[in-house]
Amino acid sequence: MKFFVKKRLPNGRRHIYLCGVKIASYKKRFDAGRLHQNVFLFNDHYEKQIFYKQQLPKNIFINGEGKNNTIRIHTNTNARRIEFIFDKNTSNNVCILDTSGDTTGLDMSVIFLPGDGNELTIGKNTVINGAKIWIGDGNKLSIGDNCMLSYEIIIRATDGHTILDRSTNMLINHQKHPCVIGNNCWLGLRTIVNKNTQIANNTIVASGTVLTKRFTEEYVIIAGNPGKIMKTNVTFSPMTIYEFLNN
Ligand SMILES: CC(C)(COP(=O)(O)OP(=O)(O)OC[C@H]1O[C@@H](n2cnc3c(N)ncnc32)[C@H](O)[C@@H]1OP(=O)(O)O)[C@@H](O)C(=O)NCCC(=O)NCCS
Repeated sequence: MKFFVKKRLPNGRRHIYLCGVKIASYKKRFDAGRLHQNVFLFNDHYEKQIFYKQQLPKNIFINGEGKNNTIRIHTNTNARRIEFIFDKNTSNNVCILDTSGDTTGLDMSVIFLPGDGNELTIGKNTVINGAKIWIGDGNKLSIGDNCMLSYEIIIRATDGHTILDRSTNMLINHQKHPCVIGNNCWLGLRTIVNKNTQIANNTIVASGTVLTKRFTEEYVIIAGNPGKIMKTNVTFSPMTIYEFLNN
């Protein structure tokens, strides 16, 4: 019997055996999908396309069976652990990470559902500690500059499945407005952003809030399910409460 055996299963998982005893099982993240997409690195002075053998910024993965999608990443990004997944029959979608500056996307998956013309833009100095983002049906989602998104954030720019009016057979749950998170917004942990959501610049969203519609007033806190304005005339800073009290 072999001392150390590594087996690759058809579903992509790997099992490791030591003296015939399974000691680990994991799925390796790899970016086979990169081959079929157009990936560009850019900064304020130039933009260049990178190809399969060239390194993407560390820990950015591209997967899925979709083809001809575009990802543009700022060269100064500190993006970490981001996976873009382009589902089968996904093409001509655009994803821009203009994230020069701060850390963006620690444990973030961006999933493009079948279709084309979807667009995601994430602005400068925006920090996302953990998010799952679904985009599909030609929808757009933009997250502004200087935002702080906590962890376990879920963004559904599309419902995914159809709801029909039984008498007319018409679709009633298509996206009517692009999803927009303004500049300088703080989304507390476990915020859920549904289709048609817009929040103005300088908005705070309380933990566990479900955002479902458009808010135009700035400097507010939105809380609850469905999210409603809970406080007005407030602002925030990334400084911790400890730092604030000791300065
Ligand atoms: C947004 C937040 C910071 C606001 O704090 P605050 O201004 O001190 O708000 P308060 O505690 O005074 O609450 C005001 C009201 O909103 C309600 N409320 C507070 N948090 C709420 C929430 N997450 N969902 C629904 N209602 C909430 C309170 O019950 C209170 O209601 P009342 O006026 O009927 O009594 C806080 O609610 C929150 O979400 N904290 C978690 C932040 C987070 O996710 N941090 C992770 C680090 S990135």
